[in-house]
Amino acid sequence: MKKTKLLSTLILSLGLMTACGQSQTDETTGGKESDKKVLTMGTSADFAPFESRNPAGEIEGFDIDLANYIAEELGYKLEVEDMKFDGLIGALQTDRVDMVLAGMSATEKRDKNVDFSTPYNHSGEMFITLKDSDITTLEAIKGKTVGVQLGTIQEEGAKKIKETIDFEIKPIDNAATLIQELLTKRIDVAYIDKSVAKGYITEQNLAGFDDPTTSSPGMAVAFPEGSDMIEKVNKVLKEMEENGKLEELKEKWLSEE
Ligand code: ARG
Repeated sequence: MKKTKLLSTLILSLGLMTACGQSQTDETTGGKESDKKVLTMGTSADFAPFESRNPAGEIEGFDIDLANYIAEELGYKLEVEDMKFDGLIGALQTDRVDMVLAGMSATEKRDKNVDFSTPYNHSGEMFITLKDSDITTLEAIKGKTVGVQLGTIQEEGAKKIKETIDFEIKPIDNAATLIQELLTKRIDVAYIDKSVAKGYITEQNLAGFDDPTTSSPGMAVAFPEGSDMIEKVNKVLKEMEENGKLEELKEKWLSEE
């Protein structure tokens, strides 16, 4: 029984290998778009301007443009898979996706479980509140409820701050819901990446202040540990820095900063 299973797995993988080899040949000989190898990107499309759904329901943003450029350069067809942010590392570890771009900060802790490219963007943190709020400093969050997105560096950061200031942390698994919670006064403050916060402040007429406690690591592309894609992607990122393409994308999506 076991042997049969092993054998069929072997046949299956051989089949896959042949299939991959096939499309690679097509690609190098200028194969059609449909023949291209697929690169699956995991993301959490709740994080404009990095990734969010437009009114037509399509996922767009800085990370999507960046991933498309990288895929194009390396001869892949990009496929985007939307999932919860706190499931992304697991998706990489179980090879459900080939890479993750999700405004993900390359922390040391995550680096133990996945591999990161060189950083492509830096963003600080902000606390955002309703416009008329009297919470305008970090000290003022004492006794209040602060919402964070589950599995983010802000969740970690909030726990750290809580060691010295007493407040309640409310982890929420979707960044857009986090803002809804703020608008409906179920939380007093939302703690979120600065570039994302700025968008909401303008769009929803909110207020906010910079987090004085952190200097978070840059956002980077994440891969399963030991992935041979990193070197190639780093090369593309370097090229994009040199040819101005990265700056162009920043101007397109992050220019409010
Ligand atoms: N930069 C933060 C982190 O890495 C938050 C990222 C959240 N991204 C998202 N697509 N919701 O933890």
